[in-house]
Amino acid sequence: MKMVDRKHYCLNPEEAYFDSPQFIGYNATISAPHMHAYALDYLEASCKEGSRVLDIGSGSGYLAACFAHMVGPKGKVVGIDHIPELVEQSKLNVQADHPALLENQLEFHVGDGRVGFEAAAPYDAIHVGAYHPTIPHQVHHPLT
Ligand SMILES: C[S@@+](CC[C@H](N)C(=O)[O-])C[C@H]1O[C@@H](n2cnc3c(N)ncnc32)[C@H](O)[C@@H]1O
Repeated sequence: MKMVDRKHYCLNPEEAYFDSPQFIGYNATISAPHMHAYALDYLEASCKEGSRVLDIGSGSGYLAACFAHMVGPKGKVVGIDHIPELVEQSKLNVQADHPALLENQLEFHVGDGRVGFEAAAPYDAIHVGAYHPTIPHQVHHPLT
């Protein structure tokens, strides 16, 4: 998380380092840093050099960028969000923060997280940053 500067991923840079959710536009928020720390810690064993990670509901791209640092240039992180403007913004945010991540290991796509993102499956870890009452079949079993 120290390698990803949250000010690039929040609408209000003056509150970027508060441990609270922040608005990112389009009625969406970036989660609080302690929530991101919890998720990254929980998934650490599955996010090694070369791992493949799907970040569903990637918002402004912050957590996907963290995963990209963890998996390194031989890994792959795909962030998907159903709001096209946020997907475009997340690319710009990473471009401003750490553009090399976009060369190979990190990509963002518009999509409905309920059907996963089969094109880059299988994944070692799937983080869901949006609520769904159950795990949708295509997220749990992407290749069936
Ligand atoms: C609370 S925000 C979290 C954003 C990001 N994961 C973070 O922690 O900063 C939830 C995100 O999920 C996205 N989202 C909600 N439902 C979705 C769906 N069915 N498919 C893809 N994205 C979705 C929203 O557009 C929003 O960007």
